[in-house]
Amino acid sequence: MPANLSAIAPALLDWYDANARSLPWRAPPGTPAPDPYRVWLSEVMLQQTQVATVRPYFEKFVARWPDFASLAAAEDAELMAAWAGLGYYARARNLLACARAVANEHGGMLPDTEEGLRALPGLGAYTAAAIAAIAFGRRAVVVDANVERVVARLFALPQPLPAGRPAIRTATESITPDARAGDFAQAMMDLGSGICTPRTPRCLLCPVRTECDGFATGHPEAFPRKAPRREKPQRHGTLFWLEHDARVLLVRRPAKGLLGGMRALPTGPWAETPPGMAEAPVDADWQVMGAVAHGFTHFRLSCTVAAATLPAHMPAPDGEWWPIDSLDEAGMPTVFVRAQRLMEGLR
Ligand code: ADE
Repeated sequence: MPANLSAIAPALLDWYDANARSLPWRAPPGTPAPDPYRVWLSEVMLQQTQVATVRPYFEKFVARWPDFASLAAAEDAELMAAWAGLGYYARARNLLACARAVANEHGGMLPDTEEGLRALPGLGAYTAAAIAAIAFGRRAVVVDANVERVVARLFALPQPLPAGRPAIRTATESITPDARAGDFAQAMMDLGSGICTPRTPRCLLCPVRTECDGFATGHPEAFPRKAPRREKPQRHGTLFWLEHDARVLLVRRPAKGLLGGMRALPTGPWAETPPGMAEAPVDADWQVMGAVAHGFTHFRLSCTVAAATLPAHMPAPDGEWWPIDSLDEAGMPTVFVRAQRLMEGLR
């Protein structure tokens, strides 16, 4: 945990005073809160959508429907058409339902508590907290994806997401100030979007670098930790390289199934345990030359590459005898090309 928790909000707010993004739904730092209608509209639009995309829609909406009463009176089709292109259309339906609830049941005024806001259509925990803080100056714990990243780094939280979310919430709560809660929330968002960015955080510009446990580890970008990806199952097989007269035997894989219809080296089945040479296309003096691996969508494949020369007088098995010099033109899938490269390296 950062040694000096109480230093974080003041440093961040000072930074915000000088660096806040100017956005049409915002009041400048330290000035009275903006119109709750504008805060609500922007927060609904900003769910799952980037600031740059939202901006022109926001301008268009407030010009056409400047308050809850006018929006509540809009026709459904008219509103849906204006929303077109913003995506997640359930938001538009909820927007209208919410405007009508505010106009008809709340005298045109948004409730000013998180609890009251949560009861309205389309307002979840994040949006209710954001509106309570930004529009009404309520102390609320506002955690969006940017804030999650900032806080996971500040506290160097070890637990990966999503299991780490409760810890992130507790940590955010511990640094949220009583005053200027809306500015604090938006300062965290701005820090996350401009400085504490996902891959290459610009820590030298960060106002809370000296308080940041993630910075102290030397690898702030490693937070939030990612849950280990589920290991794919491992399968094993053998690829057979049968040579005859400067040619190699290729087969066509069965039309149905993995790599169906592709030209390929003969293989046995791809199984959970390494197979032997039992599936070889002919009985010959097979030598193991090495191994190749490949990741398919649903499993990893590791194959032994076995090579032999067609014994004299043995009838050639079915398939195409492809000139080794022009094997690149056969159009084989990657795992077989890897075996080809292995064999070329041994020549
Ligand atoms: N994303 C969600 N709410 C935001 C806000 N108020 N300012 C900037 N980005 C946001």
